[in-house]
Parts: sequence; structure tokens; C-alpha cells
Amino acid sequence: MGLVLNRSNLKGFIDPKDMENIVPLVQKAHKDLHNKTGKGSDYVGWVNLPSSIKPAFIDELEDLGKKVQENSDCVISIGIGGSYLGIRASIEFLRDAAKIPVYYVGQNICPDYLASILDQVKDKRVTVVVISKSGTTTEPAVAFRIVKKFMLEKYGNEQLKDRIICVTDEKKGALRKIADKSGYRAFVIPDDVGGRFSILTPVGLVPLAVAGVDVRKFVAGAQAGEKEYSVKDFEKNAAYQYAAARFILSQQGKVIEVLSSFYDNMAFVCEWWKQLFGESEGKDGKGIFPASMIFSTDLHSMGQLMQDGMRNIFETFVMIEKSKRSILIPEDAENLDDFNFVAGKELDFVNKKAYQATSAAHFEGGVPNMTITIDTADAYHLGLLYYFFEKAVGISGYLSGVNPFDQPGVEAYKKKMFTLLGRK
Ligand code: PA5
Repeated sequence: MGLVLNRSNLKGFIDPKDMENIVPLVQKAHKDLHNKTGKGSDYVGWVNLPSSIKPAFIDELEDLGKKVQENSDCVISIGIGGSYLGIRASIEFLRDAAKIPVYYVGQNICPDYLASILDQVKDKRVTVVVISKSGTTTEPAVAFRIVKKFMLEKYGNEQLKDRIICVTDEKKGALRKIADKSGYRAFVIPDDVGGRFSILTPVGLVPLAVAGVDVRKFVAGAQAGEKEYSVKDFEKNAAYQYAAARFILSQQGKVIEVLSSFYDNMAFVCEWWKQLFGESEGKDGKGIFPASMIFSTDLHSMGQLMQDGMRNIFETFVMIEKSKRSILIPEDAENLDDFNFVAGKELDFVNKKAYQATSAAHFEGGVPNMTITIDTADAYHLGLLYYFFEKAVGISGYLSGVNPFDQPGVEAYKKKMFTLLGRK
């Protein structure tokens, strides 16, 4: 089945004529993306990235993974933004796929957090993967200093070469300098792929392989996505339909998109998605605010607002057709809780009913919604889903007239922070 987009709950919110009228603009965006004639075209290397990944590179990653899993009990992954979110999203989504645990640092500057991670790994055998495209980002740079000192004390200088892996630019940046000078193994991030689109570059593939995730299947899923969502025909391209629908809704004042799911392991995929869409579209006074909810948990906290609050929201559900594990709800002879009416049913059945009820109720309450369903929560479908969203944001960014591939606004806080820190 792959990935299916259901748009039936847009009925009455999007006039079929508006959808028809937008098709030529989508075709123009498609052309600009594929021919590199649109804004930010220096950074569209992600479009054909999956098909450019060589089997030999996957072999190399698998060998590296085996070696690390033999000599380490855990991995510390250092990075922020695009050099963090996709990695964590994948590991958490795939739940038991990692063979050794991954700890994340450098995604904040919180001392208690870092200290607690170092406490947790102090008696473990550790491999560090440090990821920074620019090689100069403050948070991971400071974290790497601290972690490097910890590793040096634990292993001594010589052994560090076997225990520190860098993922960075081919030539530029401080991390490249450190890797070259110290002789650390280093993987290159292509120039034409920005941070938030980099999950299929070594940024994502190296830490995932090291942790033991099936990168071969992950890449195969993204390759299937590349093929499926390169089709120009609007009717056949679900990523383009999703991009068009969200653009039309935003033009009607639906300026918040909630990515909703009924699976706890989707939480960090939602965070990755927020960066992808927020950083790509939120500029020039434009942008749909990306929010996320994990149901049914959040139905008991944010459900009221979703059902009944200001009608400036639309919603996209991500559903998983088949759960990997099966749990039957038992019959209870006493039935004191009065729940025997679901006895004998799969827990997943109840979860799916909760979704059907929620999407219908939100639709009736004035929240247009779409549903993306993937077959199962495995590496293949994750690769497919990531590519679906990447292609969709490329198109929807062009529809709204922005450059979806830059992030000038991220610099503002950095400049002020450097001034406050006294950097020359
Ligand atoms: O999308 C982006 O470019 C950013 O979120 C970056 O990924 C983030 O700032 C980290 O940058 P770097 O990988 O250069 O350390």
C-alpha cells in the first residue's frame, strides 16, 4: 500500500474549482524544483538524493555499524536542528530497531541535561557521532568540547580516533578542521542539501547505521518516494495534492496546521516535520504555523480547542495501517468497569475507532482535515514518509512565493547571543 492521502474531510472547505485552478501553479513549482529554476535552487540537492545513494555506501555504513555495535554499548549523537531532529525522530519512530541506545546532546545548552547524560554513560563503552553542516554551530560545538574531554579522560588520545565520527562539510568549518587535525573518521554533507532536508545524507544515515537501524530499507523507502512524488500529473501525486490543499486552506485564514497522530512513536517525527515546514515556509511575513498533537493523550488536553476554538486550524493525521504488535482486550467476568463491549477486540481496533471519531468530530466542528496513512512503522515507510513531506514542502513553499530553502531568521538570536558572550 505504501502511503495513501485521504482528502475527503476537506469537502465543503475546499471548492473543487480552487483545486483545479491551482494545478498550473503546482506544475510551475514542479518544473522550478526539478529544473532548478526556482528560488534557492542551489539547495535542491535533496530532490534526487535518494536515487543517488550508492549501494557501496550502504555497505560501508553497515560495516561501520557492525564495528560500533561490537565495541560500544551506546552512541552519543551531537547536533541540533536538522542535525538532530531527523535522527531522533527515526530512532524513536522505529522503536526497537536500534541495537544500541542513542543519547542526544548539543540540542540544548542545559547543564543538568548534559550532566545527566554523561552520568548515564560513564560506565558504558561509548562512540560519539558529532554532526554539524556548518561546523560552527554554538550548541553542538560547546557540547562536543565537553564530550571530547569526557572521552579523552575515559579512553586517552589514541583510542579517540576509533570512537569519534564527524559528519560535516567537505572543506569548511571548525568541525572539519578538528576532524582533519585529529584524524577522526569524517563523512561529508553535500553542499546542496540544507539541514532540514538532510536526513538521507550522512547526517541521518551515519548515526542510524551506527545504532543498528536498517538503512538499506530506509533508503529504499525514500527512493520509492522519489519515484512516486516526481510524477508531474497532479492527480497521481499525493505530495502535490497535500501541498496544494494546505496552501488553499492557508489562503482562507487557516494558518495553523496540526499534525496529529494516534501513535506515541510519532512525537519526534512531528518535531522533524515542524522544522521542515516552519523553517521552509515561515519567512517574508508568511507561513503556516506547524503544531502537533499525539492522540488520544492530547484529546484530553487540547481536544477542546481543536473542537471548539478559533477556526484558524486545519489538521493532518498520520495513521499507520498495521501495528506491529497485537494486544487483545480481555473479557472480565465481573465487568465492573462496564467495558466488556470491547472485550475480544484488538487495542489497535479501538485506536483506529478513536481516530475515525476524532477526524469526523473535528471536521464537523470546522477543522478541515486530511489523513496520510502508511502501511507500517518500519524503516521503509519512514523513508517514504520523509520524502513525501520534503517534496510537499518544496512545492508548497514555491506556491506561497518564498524561498523554501534558506533560513535567514535563524541568525538573529545567534548574533545577539555572540554579542552577549563577548565573541569578537
Ligand atoms: O535547517 C537548518 O539549516 C538548521 O536547523 C540547522 O540544521 C541547524 O542550525 C544546525 O546547523 P549545523 O548542522 O550547521 O550545525
